[in-house]
Amino acid sequence: MSENNNNNKRPPASVIFIFGGSGDLNQRKLTPALYNLFIDEWMPDQFAIVGIGRSDYSDDKFREHLFEGIQEFSRRKEQNGKWKDFSGRISYLKMDAEDEGAYKNITDKVHQFEADWKIHPNVIFYLAVAPQLVPDIAKKLSTIHLCSDKRATRIVVEKPFGHDLKSAHELNELLSGMFAEDQIYRIDHYLGKETVQNILALRFANALFEPIWNRNYIDHVQITVAETVGVEERGGYYEQSGALRDMVQNHILQLLCMVAMEPPVNFEANEIRNKKVAVLNAIRKISKEEVRDYAVRGQYSEGWMKGEKVKGYRQEEKVDPNSNVETFAALKFYIDNWRWHRIPFYVRTGKYMHQKTSVINIQFRPAPHYAFPPEAAETWRPNRLTISIQPEMDIRLRFQAKRPGQDMILNPVDMIFNYKDAYPEDHEPEAYETLLLDVMEGNPAQFMRADQVEAAWHVVMPIIEAWEQRPPIDFPNYAPDSWGPEDAEALIARDGHNWITLPHKEA
Ligand code: BG6
Repeated sequence: MSENNNNNKRPPASVIFIFGGSGDLNQRKLTPALYNLFIDEWMPDQFAIVGIGRSDYSDDKFREHLFEGIQEFSRRKEQNGKWKDFSGRISYLKMDAEDEGAYKNITDKVHQFEADWKIHPNVIFYLAVAPQLVPDIAKKLSTIHLCSDKRATRIVVEKPFGHDLKSAHELNELLSGMFAEDQIYRIDHYLGKETVQNILALRFANALFEPIWNRNYIDHVQITVAETVGVEERGGYYEQSGALRDMVQNHILQLLCMVAMEPPVNFEANEIRNKKVAVLNAIRKISKEEVRDYAVRGQYSEGWMKGEKVKGYRQEEKVDPNSNVETFAALKFYIDNWRWHRIPFYVRTGKYMHQKTSVINIQFRPAPHYAFPPEAAETWRPNRLTISIQPEMDIRLRFQAKRPGQDMILNPVDMIFNYKDAYPEDHEPEAYETLLLDVMEGNPAQFMRADQVEAAWHVVMPIIEAWEQRPPIDFPNYAPDSWGPEDAEALIARDGHNWITLPHKEA
């Protein structure tokens, strides 16, 4: 999506109902995303946003609450009265989502917009609620006749989608009994990130990479998604989740799919998703007995983070003081197909890591024959492609170069594509902007299909089960501001590799 809507092709008229309207996600992400789409003229000519919640808000108070979110979290703050124009489309519906009778208010609202706009709009239900509320709300929604309009009505379900394979499957069954698959948008916000979408461009819009993108040239792949925050005020949620469910089952496996998938024939939603499911299905299923050779877990202790004293995970609010929930996970995967035969994919993610970074490293094999004299290259290294997703947004290819001078001295250097340098005028849209626009336009390509979510659960289930059955004996086992437990180093060192960490650029 280019930022400004130059061709003025907008989605059809839409009413967006946000369950959990007074919650955090709406204030931090959803309304700011819609507001930025509005500034960039991507919102439909006719649209309305209706926050649904139990809190007592008037329309005005609700708008004030959202405005605070704009000023604090939006990439663009109020400018030239835009908020006033935008917020005029926002209203609040106080409603108990458990009360089936209350759903008539939703139908009434839609009819009112229909009458005003003289058009039948898209109706989007965004479920920004705790996962345990999703089945009940979906069931009640399905009783209002609006949902039988398979073309215009859509339901957006936030992650986590299910708590394990069984519950994800049950939720899929339930939803598919009420909605067509095309109506269900299972969101994973990583798929909306510019730099993540660019992986497809890099791989499939260039002829250069595809011939070497396989076991013959690639030695291994590393994916790191490291955060410098702890669990903050989300202890209650995180206790039910942990790093595997929170990050690996979804964001990290999605990144892995983008790196490992076969070239799509076209960009149709199902074509892209078929190719990703094929990767997930090809990931070698490890047995519970093998888990210790393939997976490492960690939990942060109390300590210091960039000069500030921070609590250990077990001391966080709403966390069990004896909790065994992991805040770090490192894993090794193999993908059993021709392209990736015997090529390890190492992934790791954690809270309170030394550096905030989401990065993919493709490590190529060494040159087959080294003709230079040994003294030419003390720092000789194989080629490497580094795709930085955030906060750095660049792609760098490392190769050997001759250092200027009379001697033949070789050094690794980087060829860098940097978003900010290449597009200094453009500001990349937030992931939620891209994804909400896709929902309004009816394009599910960057959303998870039912089988995709279940295939991803299949991959992590043995690890979840093995970890639940064998409580950790060394938790907490890493200090804040580190790269996780020592065992994570051992996991990769056993194969003769190291985790690749780029030098930290201070903000
Ligand atoms: C969310 C997780 O899905 O992704 C959070 O629930 C995590 O725990 C967040 O912090 C990371 O997202 P981003 O976009 O900041 O990398």
